[in-house]
Amino acid sequence: MANVILVGAQWGDEGKGKIIDVLTEQADIVVRTQGGNNAGHTVFVGPSKYVLHLIPSGILRSGKVCVIGNGVVLDPVGLVNEIDGLAKLGVHVTPQNLVISETAHVVFPWHRELDGQREVRKGNRKIGTTKRGIGPTYGDKAARVGLRVIDLVNAARFPARFRERLEENNEILRALGAQPIDHDSVLADYTRCADRLRPFVANTVVMLHEATRRGANILFEGAQGTFLDIDHGTYPYVTSSNTTSGGASTGSGVPPNRMDRVMGVMKAYTTRVGEGPLPSENAEISDLLHGMGREFGATTGRMRRCGWFDAVATRHAAMVNGIDELAVTNVDGLDSLKTILVCTAYRVDGQVLRHIPSDAEVLARCEPVFEEFPGWDTPTDGIRRWEDLPVPCRHYLLSIAQMTGARLSIVSVGPAREQTMFL
Ligand code: IMP
Repeated sequence: MANVILVGAQWGDEGKGKIIDVLTEQADIVVRTQGGNNAGHTVFVGPSKYVLHLIPSGILRSGKVCVIGNGVVLDPVGLVNEIDGLAKLGVHVTPQNLVISETAHVVFPWHRELDGQREVRKGNRKIGTTKRGIGPTYGDKAARVGLRVIDLVNAARFPARFRERLEENNEILRALGAQPIDHDSVLADYTRCADRLRPFVANTVVMLHEATRRGANILFEGAQGTFLDIDHGTYPYVTSSNTTSGGASTGSGVPPNRMDRVMGVMKAYTTRVGEGPLPSENAEISDLLHGMGREFGATTGRMRRCGWFDAVATRHAAMVNGIDELAVTNVDGLDSLKTILVCTAYRVDGQVLRHIPSDAEVLARCEPVFEEFPGWDTPTDGIRRWEDLPVPCRHYLLSIAQMTGARLSIVSVGPAREQTMFL
């Protein structure tokens, strides 16, 4: 399989969890390189449903090593809960199958509180964050005042650094009229989690280099999606990390010339959670998908906004990520439609745009230019071979791949592992 970077080609929630799980069969190591427990990767194995937030999806297959890389922001309480939750489902997370980077930054309760406070203050310009403290934690990292896992697990120095950071942040919270964070209970929680997590912590950069020298196959599992990237997304309606393929290198320490392939995952239509522009948003397809019980967020349970497939956006995603291959998911979501629309360009201020504009305010005014495709109006969730898909369905999938500019290699018609076709 070589070293593969998997990225979301839209606004997150492309169904990456399932594709990662399927690809993991051929991988030795699965690495998360950015984001935190804002992510929610849903994976179905037989009758069981797992929602993973911080732990790479590779944890569900035995014999694989999962790595939480240096680019991740880690909430230790959330991670310990996730480990315990998986144990209840019969998945045992041990230092043999999970390794945590010592240089990942740690999320604290003041980050979550500040995340919420900033959203309230933004009023109707709010981002619609997951309120997991992601932005403030990356903010501290960039400002060089963050605490890292290496500080958390160092019992001798953690209490003093914790107190210093807590006092500084409590001053900010008081100034905002918010509740300050309690020192003793939070220190006790973090110390307990540090004790639990210490055996998992290592220098993952050295570990991954040794693995590449041995010829191990590494899967870099992206979280969120291209248009939530802090540099390439619809700023400011983005998350605070590099969700695009470059983030896999900086977030793991494995250099770009050790990467072999980039796979982009996209839905057969478009969704977005949170605020920000979504040019192909459409009430008909939203009602259809929500009516089917689909498109509710895995982390916050929020209803996702839905739209037709946006080829302008995915073409841009193919460009910035260097996508070689595409996996298209949720094809069965369109099964009942007689006609399907695809956004092929945007119209704004009397101009037709073939590229996504950088200004979110301009993007918000863009009207979609649609091309119509015949639907297949027949269930696909029971189909297991590409050749058996209805002709209009294959035509649609090949067309959106061609518009995106990459080779179609995986098609998914449902959440189960076996509902996956390889071309
Ligand atoms: P944050 O990452 O919590 O700061 O949220 C910033 C934006 O990214 C919001 O619009 C969130 O809804 C969105 N977001 C963050 N994580 C995910 C994800 O895993 N899937 C989809 N959207 C996400």
